[in-house]
Amino acid sequence: MTRHRIVIDTDPGVDDAIAILLALASPEIELLGLSVVAGNVPLEATLANACKIVSLSGRMEVPIHAGAPGPLVREQVYGKYAHIGAFSDALVPAATVRPQPEHAVDFLVRIARRAAADGDPVTICAVGPMTNLALALVQHPDVARGIRRIVSMGGAFTALGHRTPWAEYNIYADPHAAEIVYSSGVPIVAMPLDVTFQALITEAHIAAIRDTAGAVGEAIAGLLRTFDRSDVGRFGRPGGPVHDAMTVAWLLQPEIFTGRPAAIGVAVSGKTAGHTWGDFHGRSGAAANALVMGGVDEARFLQLLVSRLGVYGRAGPNKEIR
Ligand code: RIB
Ligand code: CA
Repeated sequence: MTRHRIVIDTDPGVDDAIAILLALASPEIELLGLSVVAGNVPLEATLANACKIVSLSGRMEVPIHAGAPGPLVREQVYGKYAHIGAFSDALVPAATVRPQPEHAVDFLVRIARRAAADGDPVTICAVGPMTNLALALVQHPDVARGIRRIVSMGGAFTALGHRTPWAEYNIYADPHAAEIVYSSGVPIVAMPLDVTFQALITEAHIAAIRDTAGAVGEAIAGLLRTFDRSDVGRFGRPGGPVHDAMTVAWLLQPEIFTGRPAAIGVAVSGKTAGHTWGDFHGRSGAAANALVMGGVDEARFLQLLVSRLGVYGRAGPNKEIR
């Protein structure tokens, strides 16, 4: 079994929460910690949500580190549910763990340097604005040697944007950070809207998670039903994307995805700031810096989600879930 040592850089966020819980339910993954960033909601709320999710999982040993409260250059933009703030206790029980005192950027630098020294670089699942990662890479470029790849939920290459007609939220929220990460030399696995829009979780899947994943299932069902991402007008059918979980699913079952190498970049200013471009045919002369996912087997992705999260329904209170 391939074992992935990962850090999730995150702005919880409902789909972030599912990505984190999927990682913690999977024996193929060793989650070294969470680096938290502002995004969907302000940092105070993303941090509170991260503590709630780790507490809910029962994996109290997973360290949580607070990071950047806002983007590098542009003005702050939050997600569409920003007014909600932290998950209510009714949706996700109060946290029983607290964040570490170490800043997220210092955590990322420490983990990457140790990984480089051990000759075992780590994978970063970047599922929020990439401010923390950009700060780590700019302040300490040697960090890149300790990062095997960045699996980045972000961008839109053949799909239209959703935050603006040309931009996906994570990249739009901090395009300068994305530019730094894309040009860092660290291999990128891009998980853009092109592919996350192809797998929509429906009420049937939510009910299955609710019925099989115990308290975790109840929380996930409550979150998905409260912060509904379905949009028949956009998708032409019921259901909503679970963007961030795809970064973890790719580590677990890469064979259910299809992707192509490309040189990718991002517009950092002007009306199209946050727009991501991809050269899939070598026309720009730029070397490919990413593997861009463009397809997924929807049924197998959703089955992976439901079956893996079911682990929580078989674990008793405070029992090791794996
Ligand atoms: O565009 C989707 C991304 O923006 C997801 O990571 C979601 O959690 C928000 O951060
Ligand atoms: Ca996110």
